[in-house]
Amino acid sequence: MRMRFPSGPRIMRVAALLLAASAALAPSARGQELKKLDFIQDYLKWSALYRDPVFSATHGKRLVRTYMNPPAWAEWQRYQKAPEGSQAKLLAFPPGSLIVKDSWENLNGKPGARAYLFVMRKEAANAKPDAGDWYWAIATPDFRVLKWEGRIFEGYAGNVQYCINCHRLAEGNDFFFGSPDKLPKQEEKPAGSGY
Ligand code: HEC
Repeated sequence: MRMRFPSGPRIMRVAALLLAASAALAPSARGQELKKLDFIQDYLKWSALYRDPVFSATHGKRLVRTYMNPPAWAEWQRYQKAPEGSQAKLLAFPPGSLIVKDSWENLNGKPGARAYLFVMRKEAANAKPDAGDWYWAIATPDFRVLKWEGRIFEGYAGNVQYCINCHRLAEGNDFFFGSPDKLPKQEEKPAGSGY
């Protein structure tokens, strides 16, 4: 797979770098460098799309779960009850919807070390149409935006463009896959991603 997420020895390097960086920076600068995503801190209290970690080839070959905050969950429930083929059978998450996928390193199919959080937050309608009006981020297990090899993984393009490119396969579904069964069979290298 061409799109790599940091894993294994890289995590150690990231950890060492982060430690060095945080020691060198004043608290304010540190906050800026490794912004804490306060809005996802209680994600474990949200509804779980599925609770048992499953293998996800597309999120660094890790074991993952998915949680949705109340507005996102309400839309998912509404969608599921909508009759097949009806106008209502279209997902449209309201602004403020939050979806967090947490993850573990894959230790022969069992959860190993805690790994990254993959975050989607729905913005106002037409705020960021190229990103599906979603904000995208990778955060560390302590909710800080990932900075890896100098690159910061959050926003609506740039280092998170590859998230958008793949999730666009589910464009008709508001960029939401919703199930590990929907994993694309083939991974594609997104154009211009640099991976
Ligand atoms: C190559 C395709 C691909 C890439 C790249 C990708 N995803 Fe996903 N994502 C999926 C698929 C497929 C699912 C559903 C299966 C699963 O749960 O793993 C998913 C699920 C999710 C979910 C749960 C909501 C849903 O759609 O089911 C979140 C949140 C998420 N991804 C965030 C991200 C973020 C953030 C990035 C970039 C850092 C990213 N993804 C990169 C394919 C991708």
